[in-house]
Amino acid sequence: MQPAFRTIRRFYFILSLAMIVIAPTSQAVQSPFDTLIEKIMMEYPALQGNIQSDIINGQTVFFADTKEAGSLLVSEFIVKTLQDNYQKGQSSVLGLATGSTPLIVYKNLVTAFQNGALSTQNLTTFNLDEYLGLAANHPASYAFFMYQNLFQYLDISDERIHIPSAPPKKTDESIAEYQQLLGQTQRDIQLLGLGKNGHIAFNEPGSPATSRTRLVKLDESTRIANSRYFESPEQVPEHAITMGIADILESKINIIMAWGEGKAEAVKRAITGPISSDCPASFLQQHNKTIWFIDQKAGKML
Ligand code: GLP
Repeated sequence: MQPAFRTIRRFYFILSLAMIVIAPTSQAVQSPFDTLIEKIMMEYPALQGNIQSDIINGQTVFFADTKEAGSLLVSEFIVKTLQDNYQKGQSSVLGLATGSTPLIVYKNLVTAFQNGALSTQNLTTFNLDEYLGLAANHPASYAFFMYQNLFQYLDISDERIHIPSAPPKKTDESIAEYQQLLGQTQRDIQLLGLGKNGHIAFNEPGSPATSRTRLVKLDESTRIANSRYFESPEQVPEHAITMGIADILESKINIIMAWGEGKAEAVKRAITGPISSDCPASFLQQHNKTIWFIDQKAGKML
């Protein structure tokens, strides 16, 4: 984005937000999503100078000046969605992601819970993926990550937490069970991060749109990127279990976040590139409620 254009858009933030609210597809229909975002923006004046919005290739994209501002908008959106369901006596289902990208969102959710702004009694969660062969107490496992960063602070029982796992010799049964549970419910929101190679969850390039929860071989680039969480690159498992693209597209809303320059090319390919297995995140273009929350650095190629 050109600096001058960015400045103009900053002035016209409210106007552009109103355009999303009032006329997302040239029709004066305000969706619950738009209403909620508008409400959050009004509640947090600090967000107003720090977040711009746009519709690019049919997808809503929020550009945040910082990942903190973007994460605040995401976490408030989650809190308000869950609280709305809670107040109506309805349950909520949240799809969760791992990696560094959602960390501030999880911190904010914990704070909201501790302040009494969020109840998790009616909440069920489904995580996107897990390394094959890592026990839940392995420090690099996603089960451990989720416990450390979120679950240990919330009021949520183990039965309502779902993380793909594959006990030795029971991989097929475990995947089938996870898929069955996932299919029995619809997620209100699926959180996603983005791999530099365009992956979502562990759906690596080559993953078809019809893919379901399955065992996958990790790309070497993914193993290298994720080796920072392990003592040495050789310790990164070669395989993982991941929700499939078709599973991800079944969530009512997909929220995908990306922070930092390292994600800029993947963001561009995913939002503006052809819909293709070469960039699995591009399949999100087929979902009518995919919302991107990115910082200016991640969006610099748009
Ligand atoms: C991993 C996860 C993805 C995540 C991606 C990005 O490979 N399987 O779900 O989105 O990494 O990680 P980070 O958020 O650390 O950049």
